[in-house]
Amino acid sequence: MADTVSYQELGLSNTRDMFAKAMSGGYAIPAYNFNNLEQLQAIVTACAETSSPVIIQVSKGARNYANQTMLRYMAMGAVQMAREMGSQIPIALHLDHGDTFELCKSCVESGFSSVMIDGSHLPYDENIALTRRVVEYAHQFDVCVEGELGVLAGIEDEVEAEHSTYTKPEEVEDFVARTGVDSLAISIGTSHGAYKFKLKEGEEVPPLRFDILEECEKRIPGFPIVLHGASSVVQEYVQLINRYGGKMDGAVGVPEEQLRKAAASAVCKINIDSDGRLAVTAKVREHLANNPAEFDPRKYLGDARNELIRLIKHKNETVLGSAGKG
Ligand code: G3H
Ligand code: 13P
Ligand code: ZN
Repeated sequence: MADTVSYQELGLSNTRDMFAKAMSGGYAIPAYNFNNLEQLQAIVTACAETSSPVIIQVSKGARNYANQTMLRYMAMGAVQMAREMGSQIPIALHLDHGDTFELCKSCVESGFSSVMIDGSHLPYDENIALTRRVVEYAHQFDVCVEGELGVLAGIEDEVEAEHSTYTKPEEVEDFVARTGVDSLAISIGTSHGAYKFKLKEGEEVPPLRFDILEECEKRIPGFPIVLHGASSVVQEYVQLINRYGGKMDGAVGVPEEQLRKAAASAVCKINIDSDGRLAVTAKVREHLANNPAEFDPRKYLGDARNELIRLIKHKNETVLGSAGKG
């Protein structure tokens, strides 16, 4: 990108203040992934209407999909839209699962207020060195940095982890001190995507490893922890998808009760992507199945957007506890 822009110029906020308030208030900031206009409109509408601070986040794939210049103006538009709705909620633009220093630098230059450098698959010392490098760069511009220790099962962007490796609590203090990160993603049994647990007939979703979370909290008291892979995989959507021609047997996520417990702890940021994807897919499938002659995307994407607004409000109000905190 030829010209650079700071997140402050776009009206965005970094995450420092958001996390400090979430930590003392016992709630979590929602981090919703988006790739397109309708998803972003829904996030802004729902968060403005529930007065929830929000992190809008994009993966490397989403950035390529949306176009980095377009993204900058979408983020700026998101802030303006919220203000026109009469809302002053803080909005952060975050890079999800950054995999190189160069990508993080490019995002800082194009107006992101927060970046994740995911070195979780690297040997410990290499993860520290890479994360430290990003922190040193990003902090010059007051951009916050999220690091990760431990590997989630499933697919972390292009890095596939067959099995999860839980975060080792004995490493977190050293990692935070040596890297200077502003928040830390940990692995306590969640995974990305819509198939988080392989359950046998009649089996229940196993509890997350709250014991590991508590051990981490003890070693870095008051430090913001991030939970990835936190979609509930809303069964109403899975059923709609299956009813209208889809095939998503065995899709299952993290029960809301467990997310409520996490949000009340040192977990200050909860990442949600899959639930939004499911809501959109379910509503598009339903709309097209019931209206086979429809070919105006505003009709079926409008339905999807309305459902996303409903979902996000529900999460802010009854799961993360972020409603009214903006
Ligand atoms: O953690 C990964 C996010 O759900 C983003 O996924 O790389 O397909 O955009 P993506
Ligand atoms: P889900 O796949 O559970 O929505 O997780 C998203 C995520 O962690 C993005 O980084
Ligand atoms: Zn993630």
